[in-house]
Amino acid sequence: MHLAHLRLRDFRNYQRLDAEFTPGFHLLLGANAQGKTNILEAIYLLATLRSFRGVVGAPMVRHGQKGYFVGGRVVAQGEHEIKRYWSPHARKLTLDGQPVRRLTDYLGTLRTVVFCTDDLQLVKGLARARRRFLDLLLSQTHPTYLPLLQRYTQALRSRNALLKQPLLDEAALDSFSQELVPLGNDLIRFRAELTPQLSSLTCRAYRRIAHAAEELRLEYQPCVKTDFAVELAQFRQRERACRLTLVGPHRDDLRLLLDDQSAAEFGSEGQQRTLALALKMAQAEYLTGLHGAPPVLLLDDVMGELDGQRRSGLMPLLERAHEARGQVFMTATAESWPRELGRELQRWTVEDGALSAITA
Ligand SMILES: Nc1ncnc2c1ncn2[C@@H]1O[C@H](COP(=O)(O)OP(=O)(O)OP(=O)(O)O)[C@@H](O)[C@H]1O
Ligand SMILES: [Mg+2]
Repeated sequence: MHLAHLRLRDFRNYQRLDAEFTPGFHLLLGANAQGKTNILEAIYLLATLRSFRGVVGAPMVRHGQKGYFVGGRVVAQGEHEIKRYWSPHARKLTLDGQPVRRLTDYLGTLRTVVFCTDDLQLVKGLARARRRFLDLLLSQTHPTYLPLLQRYTQALRSRNALLKQPLLDEAALDSFSQELVPLGNDLIRFRAELTPQLSSLTCRAYRRIAHAAEELRLEYQPCVKTDFAVELAQFRQRERACRLTLVGPHRDDLRLLLDDQSAAEFGSEGQQRTLALALKMAQAEYLTGLHGAPPVLLLDDVMGELDGQRRSGLMPLLERAHEARGQVFMTATAESWPRELGRELQRWTVEDGALSAITA
């Protein structure tokens, strides 16, 4: 799978961009604040309809403009044309000229995995970051997962709104609970099934990078211990006081354990960085295994940051992507690319919202 064409209009600091990309490695070089990450953000947006910077909509519109456009041509088994327009008043998404009605028909057209400095939050950050990681991976691989998650989130929102009312309507609360429970149970099942596979892939990646003796384990920690419906009922009094739904998969976590100790609390900086990288490598490998083709890899500023050992741990993943005619985009402020892959590399310079190919 690769992105053959990228078109931007009024996206971040790009007034207009039209670029053709071959499969293989692309290195985007440029000084700070020129628009390197913005390109990766646009590619990721085509894949997931989200920004990996955690923003939605407006910040991505070029200053002073009404809306942004991001389009792409993806070559996989077949070819697909994606067009995305966003403004505060109008949102359009078409796939091969047809409006996209259900996200499940769309997601998977382009699959990406992004590696960025923020990944450390997967280890050090709140449970929310790890839930999002699981949710994204499940949405990328199981067409029924995202609609399920959306229905759960909607039901949860309604239930929370009800809990905030001065006079609690018990019957309405019960009916929301009844809606929430089966959806929540399905989410829990998906996450529980994914975790052991993800755990073994992450362990393998971790070992490849760290050559270390410590044992890594991922453990799914559902908030619901045995019976969602029963536990919701038990929490009814406390939920009234807090005015929030206190039990359910929206409170799950994925525990990351090194020698049975929490990596966030006890891991060294180096162990945490290695683990964050290993989680992303596992994501890429899981997608490759399931779809038979590697996702497009987006590496934002990571190569410069990694020491030799972690770089060489990442190398097999990049090589495999290359062999399978996949595609890798990397950003860097200075040439920091291992020479052994240099021959096969397309270099680009990014300067003030313009991208130009460097011909060797
Ligand atoms: N909505 C926007 N409209 C116009 N310019 C924007 C917008 N959002 C961000 N920018 C500009 O884009 C530039 C940052 O782009 P980007 O984050 O891609 O930089 P970069 O090349 O990755 O830099 P670094 O090496 O520091 O990571 C900044 O100059 C910023 O002001
Ligand atoms: Mg950047």
